[in-house]
Amino acid sequence: MVDVKLENLVKAFGSVIAVDGVSLQISKSEFFTLLGPSGCGKTTTLRMIAGFNQPDNGEIYFNDRLMNYVPPDKRNTGMVFQNYALWPHMSVFKNVSFGLEMRKIPGQEIKERVKAALNLVGLGGFADRTPDQLSGGQQQRVALARALVIEPDVLLLDEPLSNLDAKLRVEMRKEIKSLQKKLAITTIYVTHDQKEALAVSDRLAVMGIGKIVQVGAPSEIYSNPKNRFVASFIGLINLFHGKVAVAKEKEVVIKTRMGLEIVASALDEVNTGMEVLVAVRPENVEVHRYGFTHPQKNVINGVIEAIEYLGSISRYSIKSDQKIINADQYSPEAEETLQLGDKATISFEREHISLIEIL
Ligand SMILES: Nc1ncnc2c1ncn2[C@@H]1O[C@H](COP(=O)(O)OP(=O)(O)OP(=O)(O)O)[C@@H](O)[C@H]1O
Ligand SMILES: [Mg+2]
Repeated sequence: MVDVKLENLVKAFGSVIAVDGVSLQISKSEFFTLLGPSGCGKTTTLRMIAGFNQPDNGEIYFNDRLMNYVPPDKRNTGMVFQNYALWPHMSVFKNVSFGLEMRKIPGQEIKERVKAALNLVGLGGFADRTPDQLSGGQQQRVALARALVIEPDVLLLDEPLSNLDAKLRVEMRKEIKSLQKKLAITTIYVTHDQKEALAVSDRLAVMGIGKIVQVGAPSEIYSNPKNRFVASFIGLINLFHGKVAVAKEKEVVIKTRMGLEIVASALDEVNTGMEVLVAVRPENVEVHRYGFTHPQKNVINGVIEAIEYLGSISRYSIKSDQKIINADQYSPEAEETLQLGDKATISFEREHISLIEIL
């Protein structure tokens, strides 16, 4: 098993700095995800780890061994490319066996290992087909089998599910996750889909342009986003811009630009006068009949501007002083009593607030 360390990696293409000082430590057997918008440098980072791109600066280590000058085929990484890159005229068997043939593995062993890899991804009976005789999901599995058959120390997956429909994406990500746990291969997964990243990762790094913005477990990143970019990239969130009016031992009072007073549980490193964003997820906002009060909760009055039915939940958009606040509710009763255009009161708990310092 291998751990991966990246130290201050830099890669430019002409005047574009694709990767700008990326440092990460990925543990043995960890499922680690790079999450970020298109063009932020995810593929370039992965290609440097695999050895397809040479960094301009910085170091790559596998278990403290410097890999910068080790050729790609000697790094023992298995990569699933963003577009799968299967050879269209070769059979599934040939696509998967290629890496083993390159490594001069004896023919009989190749047969056995390809068979095992195809069985692993549920394609036992498909060895003789060509990729154009397979569905998108099956092609994705061939790409995965091809990466796994060499028994890689590090598995690199570049948006492996991006070409699949929504239902298959959810199924395949579960399969990849359970396969990764079973084989215990250190895995670096790239995606721009925040739900996917939250669902599969042990830890993830959120990338802005060329840089890592925040690293942590999914629940940490979701509930304590470090800045506005992470907060809004990682799902819908309500943000109130304000200033800390009172910072006491147990509570912090923020005065928002709209003139509201919001009370949050006290956090370290919050001082009076600090400019902050108060961040609350829609699932932590409750909708009540107009006039609801509660001594401990934050309450805000408004008017229901929209009710969106999303299956298991409904999303209420409540307008208060020109600001829209989103609230997700399970309860069908709320829907029966509260209608579009009704006045309503929303509430949220102090503990559900995260404060983001505006720098
Ligand atoms: N071979 C190249 N030549 C020139 N510019 C490149 C090259 N490869 C990548 N870039 C640029 O580097 C930046 C990062 O590209 P990269 O492919 O790493 O992004 P990404 O995060 O994988 O994006 P996506 O989610 O769209 O796949 C982009 O601005 C891209 O245009
Ligand atoms: Mg990419």
